Amino acid sequence: MKVGKLLQDPKYSEKFVLQKLLCALLNCTREYLWTDVDRELDNEMVQKISLAYDDYAIKKKPLEYVLGHVDFFGKEFFVNEATLIPRPETEYMITAVKEFVDWTLKMEDGKWMEWVLLDVGTGCGVLGISVLLQNADTFREVFFSDITPESLVVAKKNYDTHIDGSRYDARFIQADLCAYLENYSDIIAWKDVILVANLPYIPEKTHDEQNPERVKNREPRVAFVGGDDWLDYYRQMFNQLHLLVENWTLNIENLMMFLEMMTWQVDILRQEFGDRIEFEEVKTFHFNIRIVKAWLK
Ligand SMILES: C[S@@+](CC[C@H](N)C(=O)[O-])C[C@H]1O[C@@H](n2cnc3c(N)ncnc32)[C@H](O)[C@@H]1O
Repeated sequence: MKVGKLLQDPKYSEKFVLQKLLCALLNCTREYLWTDVDRELDNEMVQKISLAYDDYAIKKKPLEYVLGHVDFFGKEFFVNEATLIPRPETEYMITAVKEFVDWTLKMEDGKWMEWVLLDVGTGCGVLGISVLLQNADTFREVFFSDITPESLVVAKKNYDTHIDGSRYDARFIQADLCAYLENYSDIIAWKDVILVANLPYIPEKTHDEQNPERVKNREPRVAFVGGDDWLDYYRQMFNQLHLLVENWTLNIENLMMFLEMMTWQVDILRQEFGDRIEFEEVKTFHFNIRIVKAWLK
């Protein structure tokens, strides 16, 4: 069958999805699809396209899972059903870290820094990897951690794809938030540390009642729902960090956190932790999602 004929086949009512699938499977651009409509597709390819389309249209898989990848901050990352599909608003966290690093470099006369990067709840690794790509000469030690081992496999695959491993000491650790850090006091004590985290922060009811089927039934619940009162994870992480500071594992002056949550949640955390943690708004999106910078006082 010719590409042009397939593009007009009424079975494929969602033309944008069909085009995306064709581009991915034929490894070509959208423009090329339309300029090469006479390209002949063999039966095996037609069958592949049909199955992939059905995964999306009938089985209601998110397109990113069908394709096996997602674009994030200009790069392609592998994803599968063990990992959240990274959302575009989260990209802003990469810009925020870059601004902070550039500002600090300026203050320090641009000297090479051997900072530690912690990506907590890494999923497919987009945050940590994108921060490394944008700030290549800043970090030396990098920790990617998640509660699910399956997501760490994907994060490692993305790391190996995008990063020159000889530049960093990278660790992929299955752990509950920052609990693992107590085993690495020799590495993090007295170092500058940047922590990036987009922990689950969606109230259970909102997830179950408002998220679309494709999200609810296909993306991992553990990536969304933030405990009984939806801020459990941030609370727990702050308490873990405080313990590390009390045990001299972490130097509070050198830790900067970049977090994503909902606007009104920042106010709750500020009320509860305001005596110990400073929160600064970096960017708020119209749908109530906020990127926050936070540091221990
Ligand atoms: C909203 S997703 C964020 C994924 C990725 N960082 C991103 O921004 O696209 C939250 C991640 O936190 C992980 N997670 C959930 N509970 C956790 C815990 N107790 N400790 C560590 N990671 C956890 C989930 O498995 C999921 O990968």
